[in-house]
Amino acid sequence: MRIVLGVGGGIAAYKVASLLRLFTEAGHDVTVIPTEASTRFIGTATWEALSGNPVSNSVFDDVHLVNHVRLGHEADLVVVAPATADLLAKAASGQAGDLLTNTLLMAHGPVLFAPAMHTEMWQHAATRANVETLRGRGVAVLEPASGRLTGADSGPGRLPEPQVIFDAAMALVQGQTDYQLPLAGRTVTISAGGTREPLDPVRFLGNRSSGKQGVALAVAARNAGATVRLLAAHMDVPPPAGVEVVRVETALQLREAALDAGAGSDVVIMSAAVADFRPAEVSDTKIKKRDDTADPVITLVRNPDILQELVQQRNAGAAGAGQLIVGFAAETGDSQGNVLAYAEAKLRRKGCDLLVVNHVGTDKVFGQDSNSVVILSRSGSEPQEASGTKTEVSEAIITRISFELNHVSPMA
Ligand code: C5P
Repeated sequence: MRIVLGVGGGIAAYKVASLLRLFTEAGHDVTVIPTEASTRFIGTATWEALSGNPVSNSVFDDVHLVNHVRLGHEADLVVVAPATADLLAKAASGQAGDLLTNTLLMAHGPVLFAPAMHTEMWQHAATRANVETLRGRGVAVLEPASGRLTGADSGPGRLPEPQVIFDAAMALVQGQTDYQLPLAGRTVTISAGGTREPLDPVRFLGNRSSGKQGVALAVAARNAGATVRLLAAHMDVPPPAGVEVVRVETALQLREAALDAGAGSDVVIMSAAVADFRPAEVSDTKIKKRDDTADPVITLVRNPDILQELVQQRNAGAAGAGQLIVGFAAETGDSQGNVLAYAEAKLRRKGCDLLVVNHVGTDKVFGQDSNSVVILSRSGSEPQEASGTKTEVSEAIITRISFELNHVSPMA
């Protein structure tokens, strides 16, 4: 496929080198057209080397080739990344002052804009109107990701991950109208792994959580276009690329991180195994073994229930009213009741919107690569089963979450 890759003048231009790589590695022939301003961030030599094609941004270079007509006509796809506020405005008003804007006016195939700019610029009425104009003409404009921007600010305006732009571009070429990923523009906070509650500088009370499920959820949410904040307690696996990672150790640290990150998130998924109790006292020095004293006794105190507090925070209006909160329950069942009965009681007690229920034994779930879950909903819809690898289960959970966010009115 012949692709024209327009590069706008924003700092996110450096990420577009990875996008170009994705296109070329998939076998596509890419012509890069950088705007004049973008060459202050990334020089044309980089684009020539990575694309293997000559690069120009002027309609007066190689005039005999009539590039301003030819490139747009021949392209099967035009992708603009980063699409700055200026480029969106120029495209919306049909300006043709350089090779890229000429090409956009001549394009016969699908056109995809991947915006990146400061939040105020993205939310400005002028930009909103330009985006609406372009979308109204059938041009695809991705939602930017949200998160840390170039300065101290954060919010919607980050360039979507190169893989997200690539997937959207491929969907668009195949004629799919839902090129916009289901969690585009959404922020998802996910806790993962197991907390460790210290007894002294060398000992702790921990649990068998590996973090694999939480990491798989983070990958699935990221691939669905979300901006992901991973609150990582102790994990046996590394955090994935393309997500913000906050490291925590104890339940109290996780509580602080979850309430903080959760306040600005559309979705919070508590998949971490949080210790219900912690030692009442933490010794500053290693507790010594002495032959002459009685067996030591550890007094435990309760940890706060973070999931419940997140629900309270949301219900008190401190997070968006439409926020979706998802809990996990690892149940073994016993002579008093079966797994689902316990889980339904837990869903009511905790007040979260969805509860993902695992049936656990010492050989099941913890540290394993596969899983089998039932998703219970506070709205009372039929329990949904999902099983397979932790990746497959995570994709099912993220699909369900996307559905709830996009099709179901807030339950708060
Ligand atoms: O009550 P239980 O520990 O079985 O509930 C599990 C769910 O509650 C999980 O989503 C877990 O992350 C969360 N949890 C919590 N704070 C705790 C204990 C569990 O948020 N102190």
